[in-house]
Amino acid sequence: MARLPVAACIVALHLCLLLLPSSSLRRLSEAESSLVQHGGGSRPAYHFLPAKNWQNDPNGPMYHNGVYHLFYQYNPLGATWGSGNLSWGHSVSRDLVNWAALNTALDPTAPFDNNGCWSGSATILPGGIPALMYTGRIDAGKEAQVQNVAFPKNLADPLLREWVKPAYNPVISLPADVPGDRFRDPTTAWVGHDSLWRIAVAAKVGGPSGIASTLIYRSKDFRHWKRNTLPLYTSRAAGMVECPDLFPVAEPGVEEGRLGYTPGMASGVVRHVLKLSVMNTTEDYYMVGSYDDAADTFVPELDNERSLDDCRTWRRFDYGHVYASKSFFDVRKNRRVLWAWATESDNMDDDIAKGWSGVQTVPRKVWLDGDGKQLRQWPIEEIETLRSKQVVGLLGAQVNAGGVNKIFGAGAQVDVEAIFEIPYLEDAETLEPNWQLDPQKLCEEKSASVSGGVGPFGLLVMASGDLQEHTAVFFRVFRHNQNYKVLMCTDLTRSNGRDKIYKPPYGGFVDIDIEQHRKSISLRTLIDHSVVESFGGGGRTCITARVYPEHAENNNSHVFVFNNGTGVVKVSRLEAWRMARATVNVVHGR
Ligand SMILES: *[C@@H]1O[C@H](CO)[C@@H](O)[C@H](O)[C@H]1NC(C)=O
Ligand SMILES: *[C@@H]1O[C@H](CO)[C@@H](O)[C@H](O)[C@H]1NC(C)=O
Ligand SMILES: *[C@@H]1O[C@H](CO)[C@@H](O)[C@H](O)[C@H]1NC(C)=O
Ligand SMILES: *[C@@H]1O[C@H](CO)[C@@H](O)[C@H](O)[C@H]1NC(C)=O
Repeated sequence: MARLPVAACIVALHLCLLLLPSSSLRRLSEAESSLVQHGGGSRPAYHFLPAKNWQNDPNGPMYHNGVYHLFYQYNPLGATWGSGNLSWGHSVSRDLVNWAALNTALDPTAPFDNNGCWSGSATILPGGIPALMYTGRIDAGKEAQVQNVAFPKNLADPLLREWVKPAYNPVISLPADVPGDRFRDPTTAWVGHDSLWRIAVAAKVGGPSGIASTLIYRSKDFRHWKRNTLPLYTSRAAGMVECPDLFPVAEPGVEEGRLGYTPGMASGVVRHVLKLSVMNTTEDYYMVGSYDDAADTFVPELDNERSLDDCRTWRRFDYGHVYASKSFFDVRKNRRVLWAWATESDNMDDDIAKGWSGVQTVPRKVWLDGDGKQLRQWPIEEIETLRSKQVVGLLGAQVNAGGVNKIFGAGAQVDVEAIFEIPYLEDAETLEPNWQLDPQKLCEEKSASVSGGVGPFGLLVMASGDLQEHTAVFFRVFRHNQNYKVLMCTDLTRSNGRDKIYKPPYGGFVDIDIEQHRKSISLRTLIDHSVVESFGGGGRTCITARVYPEHAENNNSHVFVFNNGTGVVKVSRLEAWRMARATVNVVHGR
């Protein structure tokens, strides 16, 4: 095969990457190719994952010279975590949907990262030079976590295949008041009012029982960093936080394009969002608030339902099975894009047998809702290029109490959009106050088979024809004070017939005034074999789940609309598309 000129490659990157006879593209053996093609039924067809092995946190997403880059925590040696062996996997794309795998970008080979290249972020420095900042784990008898930088070896390489770690690393050593295993995950850098760079790093300050802190470091040259006396934010409620993310969001009505891609550049037209991954619950929380770029502190805006001392009252990016999310500002389309890691929920033996573990959610556009209080998320529009055959049904239909209607022609690789209209909201049952803090428990007690006034209604996905196996994604409306409160659940308890598998119900409230929304609520669910990723109320509440139905190995999966409430529900919109397979990190042999 002839080598294609580099210019042509940039024009048609993903095609080109598949053809490029470069030694740095990983080529799969026949056995691996077969695994990728078939994947034992549970391998996703359009979510991001490496060809094989373990992946966890998304790292350093960026857009550079027409190419999107995604790095990720990767164990090159197997399908389990392998802490000390973690590298940065590296893939490139032109559209955030189709990806080509490159060789690992960072491996644990230097004295300052010999026990793992852990999570971090990318920053584009002046002159268009990308810099990676990441956590190195050093094992010298006692663990120490430090922060390192790396730069492209050759800026003229359009794919930035090789990365160099300067010998002057680490650029930030372990502080004396932080335990060796509690200092990590630097953010993308931004420039403050004093023209200095800033990054945030997660740390537990003050010994093993110290306070979960997000520290700020400042630098003139990206090499010499000095810690601020005051942290950006501390929380006594969290224990330890990881993977902080601080980013600006446009006020409702303000053009997103004015934001720039770093917090400091955006002052005046924005509020800020601080995201924290809370380690002992493995859940990602965010707060909308203000970032004071003189003091480098973050002050959350709270309403009377939220308390800083109780994580359970904070908002979450996703009420399902995701963690360690990371976002970047996409200058190509003036939008913020978020990724999050959705780990497997089968057991480790299953992961070893299938040869891979961990997927990323679809890239999601993130913006501040018109209410100024919450974020909304939506699959980036490029995902829609995968919509192939459209299947519809039930439009305008009423689903009566106990009704179950099949969407013909759907399957295990589908994008479904529905709007449910509720004629008689008055029938809603009353929400008991003690349920407010634990929507997940509420989804367990009030499952899809427990009839209510309004709901449960929604979708049954990855369902066997006889409904023995199914995953229920549904809503239930409650009366609450003078208003209504909408609960959204994804219930896995009947997703398969096996015992030793994690099959919880997941749940979150949807912060929407359903009376003002024409008494209707929308649901979009992306079904991709073992991934069920749902966006309720126009992306106000998201739930991602991992499911492993047994029927999917050999039999067709189906999608149904159901209503197990006592009242009627009208389906005022229902569209579903079969999704084509994306090219995700598959390199065909010649
Ligand atoms: C890292 O890889 C080596 C093999 O090279 C293996 O012996 C070791 O157990 C791995 N470490 C972890 C933590 O998985
Ligand atoms: C998380 O850690 C904190 C501090 O160690 C503790 O108070 C809290 O109860 C923990 N939460 C959970 C859910 O384990
Ligand atoms: C709906 O309720 C009936 C009766 O309780 C139950 O048999 C059925 O399984 C329920 N549907 C779902 C999806 O749970
Ligand atoms: C698959 O379908 C066959 C019949 O075609 C049936 O015997 C079998 O039980 C089904 N398997 C599952 C897991 O649903």
